[in-house]
Amino acid sequence: MAESMKGLKRTHRCGELSAANVGEEVTVMGWVQKQRNKGGIIFVDLRDRAGILQVIFEESDCGAENFEKAEKLRSEFVVAVVGKVTKREGAVNENLATGEIEVRATQVRILSEAQTPPFPIEADSKTKEELRLKYRYLDLRRPDLQRNLILRSKIVNTIRNFMSDEGFLEIETPILNKSTPEGARDYLVPSRVHPGTFYALPQSPQIFKQLLMCSGYDRYFQIAKCFRDEDLRADRQPEFTQVDLEMSFADVDDVIDATERMVANVCKEAIGLEVQLPIMRMTWDEAMNRYGSDKPDTRFGMELVDVSETVKGCGFGVFTGALENGGSVRGINVKGQAEMPRKKIDALVEFAKGYGVKGLAYLGVLPDGTYKSSFAKFMTEDELKALVEKMGGEPGDLLLFAADKLRLVWSVLGALRIEVAKQLDMIDNSKFNFLWVTEFPEFEWSEEDERWVAMHHPFTMPMEEDVQYLVSDPERVRTKAYDIVLNGVELGGGSVRIFQSDVQEKMFEALGFTNEEAHEKFGFLLDAFKYGVPPHAGLAIGLDRFVMLLVKADNIREVIAFPKVKDASCLMSEAPGVVDAKQLEELYLQTVAVEVKESEAE
Ligand code: AMO
Ligand code: AMP
Repeated sequence: MAESMKGLKRTHRCGELSAANVGEEVTVMGWVQKQRNKGGIIFVDLRDRAGILQVIFEESDCGAENFEKAEKLRSEFVVAVVGKVTKREGAVNENLATGEIEVRATQVRILSEAQTPPFPIEADSKTKEELRLKYRYLDLRRPDLQRNLILRSKIVNTIRNFMSDEGFLEIETPILNKSTPEGARDYLVPSRVHPGTFYALPQSPQIFKQLLMCSGYDRYFQIAKCFRDEDLRADRQPEFTQVDLEMSFADVDDVIDATERMVANVCKEAIGLEVQLPIMRMTWDEAMNRYGSDKPDTRFGMELVDVSETVKGCGFGVFTGALENGGSVRGINVKGQAEMPRKKIDALVEFAKGYGVKGLAYLGVLPDGTYKSSFAKFMTEDELKALVEKMGGEPGDLLLFAADKLRLVWSVLGALRIEVAKQLDMIDNSKFNFLWVTEFPEFEWSEEDERWVAMHHPFTMPMEEDVQYLVSDPERVRTKAYDIVLNGVELGGGSVRIFQSDVQEKMFEALGFTNEEAHEKFGFLLDAFKYGVPPHAGLAIGLDRFVMLLVKADNIREVIAFPKVKDASCLMSEAPGVVDAKQLEELYLQTVAVEVKESEAE
C-alpha cells in the first residue's frame, strides 16, 4: 500500500530544521526511527542523513485518516510528512540538533513499508560486524557511518579544489593495464579478444602519471582507485583510493611543500584542525634508530637506546653472542614499571618472540637498589650500573632488551614500544602527529628471492652522492623517497623519479633485471624517456587511511561504503563468485579450483 509523493516536494532535510524555522509549513521525508503511541498523541522520530526530527500527530491537527496511518508506522518505514514547525512543548532535547523544535503533522504518506531490520539502526552499534556487513545498505543508514562518508565526500571536494587552485590537472588513467611495479600481487582480467592474455588492474597509476609528465602536463592529480592482492589488515583493502599526484621540474621539497599544504588544508576544512607547517622531517636512519620503525608514532617517547657499546665484553652470553655475530643490543625504558607482574612480562617476551627474536631480556630497577631480572646474575654490579645509566634508568623503571641482527632488533623493539604504550595507555588520542620520513634506502634484501629488491619501486631516484654505489654497494644507497606518517600510520609516500637512462640502467642491473626483462616490463616508459623527459617527482596519499585517521576510526572499513573483509570477499554481494561455463569458454579459461578444493579436503 505504498503511496506516491505526487504533489509533495521536500522542503527541508529533517536534521536541517531549527528554531529559526518555527511557524513555517514544511514537507520532510525520511525513515521512521521510532514511533511511540501515547493514546491521543503519537510521537515519531523521523531520520534522514541530516539528523533526527520529532514529529507529533494529533487527530485535531491531521484528521482521522492521517492519524490512523500514523498509528501503523513502524521502524524504517519511509514516509512524507507535511506539518508546521513549533517550539517543543516537552523538555528540550540537548542531544539533538533539532532538539528545540518539533513538527506538528497535518498530513502523512507512507511511501514504503519495511520489514523489521536484522539489527537496530543506531549509532555506536553493538551488532557484530559480519551481520552489519551482510546488510551493509542498512548499516550505512547508521549516523556514524553517514557522518564518515559525508566527511569523506567533503575531504575529496577540498582536495579537488586545492589541487585545482595549485595548477594540478585531474586526469584519469586506465584500469585495464599491464602490470604495475608496486610489488604486490596483481588482480588479473582475462582478455576475450586476445586468448590467453590478461590485463592487470592498476596497483597505482605510477607509470601513467610519469608518462603524463613526459607529455607535458606538468602537474597531474587523480583520486585513483588502486587494486592490490595482498593480505588485508585493519588499514588495508584489496581496492582502495589514492590521492595521486605528480609534478614536473620538481624535487623533494616541491612535493613535500604541495602535499603538506594540501593535507593541512584538508585537516582544517574537515575537522577544524590546525596543522603546524612545515611538518617535521626525519631521515629513515633516524626513525629506525630512535623508534625502530619507518612510520614512527611520535605521540609518546620510550625511544630505543643502543647499548651495544655498553654491554660489549659483559658476562651475558646472549648479548655478547649477538654482537660477535655482527648484531646489535638495544633497549627501551618502560618508566615506572619495574614491578610489572611476571605474567605480563612473560606475555611481552612472547610478543617479542612473535617477531622472530629468541627472547627478550628484562631488568627491573627496584626502589631498594636491587634488580628483578632475567640476566642480572650474568653481569657484575658495575656492568649493570653502566647499563642502567645508559638507558636513563631510575629506580622503578623496567628495561627491556633485544639482541640480534640490527633489522630484527629494530622491528621487535619498534613493535614492542607500540604494544607497551597501548597496554599502559600512554598514547594521547587527541594528538595528530604528522611526520615526514625521508632518505629511504633504495633496496632491501629479500630473503625469499635472495636478491636486492626495490624498497619503493625501480624508478626511485638515488641521492646524488649515492648513485655511484648502485651496483657496487646497493645497501648504502639512500633515495629521494619520502613517506608522510600520521600517528604511526603510513599515510602516503612518493619519490623523485629517475629520468636519466644511465641511472635507470644501473638500477635495473642492481635489481638483477636484464635489459630485455626491463623492456618487457616497462619498455614504453623507457622509450618515452628517449623523447625528452622533464625531471619529475610525485606522491600518493592513501585516502581511506587519511579519512580513517581524521574520524578516529580504528578500521578502514568504517570509511568505505562497501568494503571487503579479511579474505577479500564482500559479505553482502558474496563477491567473488563463480561464473558459468559459457563465460569461461568465451575467455578460453578452465579452472582446476574444484579439484584443488577437493584434494585439500582429503
Ligand atoms: P604506495 O605503495 O606507498 O605508493 O601507496 C601510497 C599510499 O596508498 C595507501 N595504500 C593503501 N591503502 C589501503 N589499502 C591498501 N592495500 C593500500 N596500499 C597502499 C597507503 C600508502 O602510503 N605509486 C606510489 C606513489 C608514488 O611514488 O607516487 C605508490 O603507490 O596510504
Ligand atoms: P637463555 O640463556 O636463553 O635462557 O636466556 C636468558 C634470558 O635472555 C632470557 O630472559 C631470554 O628471554 C633472554 N634472551 C634470549 N635471547 C635473547 C635475545 N636475542 N635478545 C634479548 N634477550 C634474549
